[in-house]
Amino acid sequence: MRVVFLSPAYPPEMVDYTRGLVEVGAEVYGVGDTPRQALPPKVRELLHDYLQVPRIMDEDDVIERVSTWLRGKTIDRVLSNWEPLVILAARLRERWRMPGMSVDTVRGFRDKQLMKERVKAAGLRVPRSRRVKTEHETRAAAEEIGFPLILKPIAGAGSADTHKVTSKAELDAAIKAMRGVPEASCEEYIEGEEFTYDTISIGGKPAYENVAAYLPKPLEMRTLQWVSPVIITVRDMFQPKLQGGIALGRKVLEALGMGDGFTHMEWYLTPKGEAVFGEIGCRPGGAHIVDQMNYTSDIDLFREWARVVCHGKFLAHAPRKYNVGIVFKRALGEGRITRIEGLGAWLKECGPWVVEEKLLRPGTPRRNWKHTLLSDGHVVVRHPDWDEAYRMSFLAATNIRMYAEPPKSSGGATEAS
Ligand SMILES: Nc1ncnc2c1ncn2[C@@H]1O[C@H](COP(=O)(O)OP(=O)(O)OP(=O)(O)O)[C@@H](O)[C@H]1O
Ligand SMILES: [Mg+2]
Repeated sequence: MRVVFLSPAYPPEMVDYTRGLVEVGAEVYGVGDTPRQALPPKVRELLHDYLQVPRIMDEDDVIERVSTWLRGKTIDRVLSNWEPLVILAARLRERWRMPGMSVDTVRGFRDKQLMKERVKAAGLRVPRSRRVKTEHETRAAAEEIGFPLILKPIAGAGSADTHKVTSKAELDAAIKAMRGVPEASCEEYIEGEEFTYDTISIGGKPAYENVAAYLPKPLEMRTLQWVSPVIITVRDMFQPKLQGGIALGRKVLEALGMGDGFTHMEWYLTPKGEAVFGEIGCRPGGAHIVDQMNYTSDIDLFREWARVVCHGKFLAHAPRKYNVGIVFKRALGEGRITRIEGLGAWLKECGPWVVEEKLLRPGTPRRNWKHTLLSDGHVVVRHPDWDEAYRMSFLAATNIRMYAEPPKSSGGATEAS
């Protein structure tokens, strides 16, 4: 089986999907904008061939180049697990009349307004929302929807430019802050807890399902620097409070015409117990959630995904053994990481339940927490009992501290005395 896999080395976890494809017998043709020599050696060994394109986001250009490159070869699949490339993969499939989701179907997973319209048309609960382009439209929509509301870009990611608005003054401020955004969604604010619903589906039916809890909700993770974001996969998927969200998720897959592959949905659980749709992508979640799901059941979903998209089969036995918490840390200060406090005590306290410790080491430049949820590294801890997994995750959130400092200036400057 010949598979074209877009961007096989970026983001870094794409290397694991490439590995999965090879393990189920695929010959993988990679396409990306990383120069061949700069590909990680591991992925270079896995790829049957690789085409470097100048701009991977330039869909028309990539389609032309890939078509020329592969002329005369039979290709069986075109795949992407990275959100910005899912439409490009669908366009290539349509051009080559190949199995897989169409451009129109994939748009339902990509355009946030269209996805809500389609989900709502299936009779499912979505936040009331309006597509707005001008200040006038925004004010009219706010009037109609009422406070509190959410203003966010239609093509958003990483909660960038997302504002919770609770008053007229906050609306004025949000409108000002969003001047550069061409098109926004003005939405009813949904109070409550926030969860994921992840699947690997075959013909839109989940062969694998997962729920994870966001602690706190992503908007707060992304706007409050002092927070150490925690995400915990839920071992017990049969507990009553999650049933509404799981049922919602299954119906959303049907409403949007999901085919084969990963999905990552976000949903809200209101204080009254109602499950409300947030958003969905037809690709895996980022920020190591696939690793968390693997640790939850001691399985390899990178390979199982590949088996599903190549052969239509999910063969892993996936008992839910653990609640798996990931905790992202953010250093205090700017510049390079200088020290980590509390790590030794936490490792000792949690012992064998710790499965990963990948905090950036002293000397490494700290990352911009606004740009990546990955922040300055993470720890992963798991336990069969929810309360224990929760306790150990929050112990890491509060007791591990990282510090950064700007490099000391050199070059002979003397301090003023
Ligand atoms: N209608 C809403 N009610 C309550 N909270 C909301 C609403 N819309 C967005 N949020 C908050 O803002 C966050 C970001 O919104 P959304 O997921 O739609 O955008 P995003 O930028 O694609 O997110 P990401 O890429 O981080 O998943 C949500 O996870 C949620 O915490
Ligand atoms: Mg989101």
